Amino acid sequence: MPRNCWIFHTLLVLVVALSEAQSPTLRQASENSGPLVGTAVRPYLFSEAAYSATLGREFNLVEPEDAVKWWTIRQKQGEFNFRDGDEVVRFARAHGMKVRGHCLVWDHNNPDWLNKGNFSAPELARLLQAHITTVMKHYAGQIFAWDVVNEAIDEKGQFRDSIWYNRPGIGLAGKGSAYVEQAFRWAHEADPQALLFYNEGGGEAMNRKSDAIYAMLKDFRKRGVPIDGIGLQMHVSNLEFDGKGVQENILRLTQLGLQVHITELDVSLPVDKSGQASPEDLSRQAEIYREVYRACLQNPGCTAIQTWGFTDKWSWIGSHSHGSEGAALLFDRMYKPKAAYDAVIQEISRGSRRSR
Ligand code: XIL
Repeated sequence: MPRNCWIFHTLLVLVVALSEAQSPTLRQASENSGPLVGTAVRPYLFSEAAYSATLGREFNLVEPEDAVKWWTIRQKQGEFNFRDGDEVVRFARAHGMKVRGHCLVWDHNNPDWLNKGNFSAPELARLLQAHITTVMKHYAGQIFAWDVVNEAIDEKGQFRDSIWYNRPGIGLAGKGSAYVEQAFRWAHEADPQALLFYNEGGGEAMNRKSDAIYAMLKDFRKRGVPIDGIGLQMHVSNLEFDGKGVQENILRLTQLGLQVHITELDVSLPVDKSGQASPEDLSRQAEIYREVYRACLQNPGCTAIQTWGFTDKWSWIGSHSHGSEGAALLFDRMYKPKAAYDAVIQEISRGSRRSR
């Protein structure tokens, strides 16, 4: 090789080695003692090479986006279909990842036979206990943490009307958190090793909803109801984010001895017809991601940060907003890391800490 060429080649190797040394993947950055870094996943996409490669490289935690909800597992009354959930567990095991389960008690994403079945309260109680028990036992030792109850409280801090609460409910209608407590007790009996979470959206900062959640969890802790943590969904829209309020809320929740998981982080942006967001919005988005990571990293009780998907190609935001919003995740539609990705890597590398 001519001398010039040789020098050039050596320099190139050095530059590549240096840049690799300086930019760990999200997963590597987290394994240097940050919180778990996770994402919601759809098992039917594992066959897409870029999807699997990015997922395996960047994350050490996965959560089935829809695959272990009632509407997937319980398509037919009396049957349990674990195929999709099992695929997620298999992928996780093959890639050394943990799995969160989502969710056992929710008023949404339930099958028609349940919604329209006109069941009595005792029948619903039996159905719910059997569901929690069968599903948690199936995944015992494989799913380490479960969102037992999802979105039970509304913006005013009241318990939402739901099939499990009061339509007709499992026999505890009008008794506030009693049905939530019952679900946690059944979950603990089913798999005493699993960490049990209450998961909620809209109560991430300080407001009437988060006050009501806090009061419920404080009471649960006082009375020894088996609960280990709270999931803060963190769907950020309109580029509005109250970092201070989120930190304050995480602090009071962890002071109850609970773990906090950020469970469904995404930051949706206005997009044009081709799904493109403006460069200004993408930079602001990166700063919001950074602030979310910072809020979690500052508190040792915040033990996982999970996004609701990872590529803008496959995100619920598009369908949810009828195409007016999107571009909410860390990777673009071509799986290229966005500014938000660089921001969280920086933040996690800077703030690395402690064991889980
Ligand atoms: C959403 C999924 O992303 C969609 O695929 C599905 O069609 C509807 O549910 N809060 C939750 C999640 O707790 O389960 C929801 O997931 C998003 C809002």
